[in-house]
Amino acid sequence: MDSISALRRQRHFNDHQRPQYHFLPPANWMNDPNGLIQWDGQYHLFYQYNPDGAYHANMHWGHAVSSDLIHWTDLPIALKPTPGGWDEGGCWSGCAVNNNGVPTLMYTGVRGKRGENQAQGIATSSDNLLTWQQYPGNPVISQIPPEARQRHDFRDPFVWREDDGWYLLLASRVEGIGGTVFLYRSPDLIHWEYLNPLLIGRMEQTGRTWECPNFFRLGDKWVLILSAHIDPERTAKVFYFVGEYREHRFYPEIEGIFDYGVLYAPLTMQDDRGRRLLWGWLREDRTVEKQLAAGWSGVQSIPRVLTLLPDHRLGMAPAPEVEQLRGEHQRYTNISLSTLTEEMRLEPDGHALDIVAEFEPGQTGLFGLSVLATRDGQEKTRILYDAPTQRLIVERMQSSLADGVNPYAHAAPHPLLPGERLQLRILLDGSVIEIIANQRTSIVSRAYPTRADSTELTLFAHHSDGHLASLDVWKMASIWPAQE
Ligand code: FRU
Repeated sequence: MDSISALRRQRHFNDHQRPQYHFLPPANWMNDPNGLIQWDGQYHLFYQYNPDGAYHANMHWGHAVSSDLIHWTDLPIALKPTPGGWDEGGCWSGCAVNNNGVPTLMYTGVRGKRGENQAQGIATSSDNLLTWQQYPGNPVISQIPPEARQRHDFRDPFVWREDDGWYLLLASRVEGIGGTVFLYRSPDLIHWEYLNPLLIGRMEQTGRTWECPNFFRLGDKWVLILSAHIDPERTAKVFYFVGEYREHRFYPEIEGIFDYGVLYAPLTMQDDRGRRLLWGWLREDRTVEKQLAAGWSGVQSIPRVLTLLPDHRLGMAPAPEVEQLRGEHQRYTNISLSTLTEEMRLEPDGHALDIVAEFEPGQTGLFGLSVLATRDGQEKTRILYDAPTQRLIVERMQSSLADGVNPYAHAAPHPLLPGERLQLRILLDGSVIEIIANQRTSIVSRAYPTRADSTELTLFAHHSDGHLASLDVWKMASIWPAQE
């Protein structure tokens, strides 16, 4: 890390709501992961970035590099809008490919007051991905497919290679019908031919507009992941589809929700070990004013390894590399939840923990873990399983004494198959709570306790006939140099 970005990071060291082992820029706004690629063994993460402050505007591509997926070095800004150019309003999301040894980014350039004029262009690097030169003929896709009938939502190129050339998906919508991804082909990444919609969604189920598509083979199936704007709730969700891909048509067989919390606009890449890795933008869940006051906004998830489960649903787990950050550890086993009358304090506690727990859920009552709790219980966030309704819930009513943070719960219905135990993996890091249940159900939540002593971890149960089989908790180290 260069000394300037180290200094800028130090300014935030006392902010206990700021994550310590999840990637985020030294300051300011970040949203989607972009351009994920491994080059000469190093992982490159680009991201939507506003250098002017902790708000969404004037998008650039920030850039960081890592050799272990966990510790990152900040690099100079990779892409910035060209004044008077096709991307003058912002360099929006896109991807990276290796074009015969030439690192190539493909992204959406926007123009117009609200970015309503969207087109796609490319940029290449000849100095090991440090600086990027725009292709002089940009944009390389400015025509919209006849079905689209608008260029306001026409973006986020995702490119992959097949035997007969390059293929590309663009996220968009068909007015009045729903979110859509359009499929293109090219021999050279410059000349693109529109083929057909790969998938057209139904507005009532999968939203009005799609963004940030991913399409890749996993096991013997193909997976489409996309992010959707849902009306009328005005919410945003990530969906995935697993199915067959034949003659450039996709036949989904299974559909799922990738995350029940704040994870959005994920992007995937395949690494040199053949793993399909996914990063997602973890959105803030507090007011714009609070984000501006904090001076930072947006976090990247810990990269997840995706797998295809035997029933063809999507499986996921944090990359094992994160375990190198584990420190002080305690293990608890065999606790009957019906005998637990008071909350039981667990150790170690803190703002940065990795927790692995396995419960026999039982039939009655509820049980769970409180995190980010003060000893007097004024602030606490409860991760609980409600056995009668079979829901996994992150309860945030008491998460924070402050106004301007979202107190509503996040919940995932039916995370368990009949007879299954509840396996929880929880990565707690400042205001980030990443939860994966049984390697397939994800809830990423956010909590913003005001008190610096909101560090306690407890086990609780009410009228539960369940059982805690085992619980491991580790303190996690920061990925940034120690404060001086
Ligand atoms: C998703 C998104 C993308 C767009 C980018 C702009 O969060 O809206 O569709 O390219 O963010 O920052």
